[in-house]
Amino acid sequence: MRQTIGEGTERLRTDRNDMAEQAEPNKSGKRATIFAVTSGKGGVGKTSLSVNLACEFSRRGHRTIIVDTDLGLANAHILAGIKPKRSLSDYIEGTAELAEIIEDGPCKVKFISGGSGVKDMANLDDNGRARICVAIEDLAPFCDVMILDTGAGVSKGVTDFVSMADQTILVTTSNFAAIADAYGIVKVVVQDGYDKPIHCVVNRVRSPEEAEQVFLKLKGCTERFLAFDLNWLGLLPEDSSVEGAVLKRSPFSEVFPGSVAARYLAKLVSGLERYVGKSKSAPQAAKG
Ligand SMILES: Nc1ncnc2c1ncn2[C@@H]1O[C@H](COP(=O)(O)OP(=O)(O)O)[C@@H](O)[C@H]1O
Ligand SMILES: [Mg+2]
Repeated sequence: MRQTIGEGTERLRTDRNDMAEQAEPNKSGKRATIFAVTSGKGGVGKTSLSVNLACEFSRRGHRTIIVDTDLGLANAHILAGIKPKRSLSDYIEGTAELAEIIEDGPCKVKFISGGSGVKDMANLDDNGRARICVAIEDLAPFCDVMILDTGAGVSKGVTDFVSMADQTILVTTSNFAAIADAYGIVKVVVQDGYDKPIHCVVNRVRSPEEAEQVFLKLKGCTERFLAFDLNWLGLLPEDSSVEGAVLKRSPFSEVFPGSVAARYLAKLVSGLERYVGKSKSAPQAAKG
């Protein structure tokens, strides 16, 4: 069942009322800080990082929601160890309200699945993605942190979610293609007018020097060719605990809290916490 934008807006109003009954909106007109976790190349660790960032924010007392925007190929629920009954696909089709697709995840994180194996979601048009962006904005007054786990690449299915975020976390490994593709996504969003911070995480490294070299290479290219200043956020080491946690269908920071990866994850969140609690609600969302 297709909806027009007008119907969608009416539905969101109803959903907001439903949500308001369940959760207190942020005090003083604040809304969640929206972090998009993205990359050029797939398989570099976005989903694993997204789920664990969300858990660490939540453990520190921030009300956190993770939205799997890798539409059609969504797999964050697998790494989070949950079986979502509903997803953004049901919301877009009009068979579920926004409040009905929010699931309970690990570490008290709220979770919205993107719908896996759903062809229509993988090919969602501009209107469909716009409706998801509005839904994300609409949830923002009810939490402190929103993590958008995106797909890879430079399609609108990725860049629309990066563009709406307050902060972007760019993940790469030291693999040459991953670095080149990381540059590619920065190029596309910057040329589209993106002017908010992009923080770089170099994943699966064997030493801090390796991470630094990757970052400096990438930063050099974005400065020279795009006049864009990339921020250093940090690194995650190559750690068998990450893969081990995937096999256990649990966040590594939850099942292996003493792992090296969990220690570095905590540093990443400490670096990002300064951006939390700073975003003001849009006038429309503040009315609740
Ligand atoms: N730091 C790491 N150490 C070891 N394995 C990792 C690390 N980060 C990610 N992986 C593994 O890489 C694979 C891809 O990760 P995933 O988060 O699904 O990537 P993406 O979302 O970018 O496609 C997973 O099997 C994951 O366990
Ligand atoms: Mg992923």
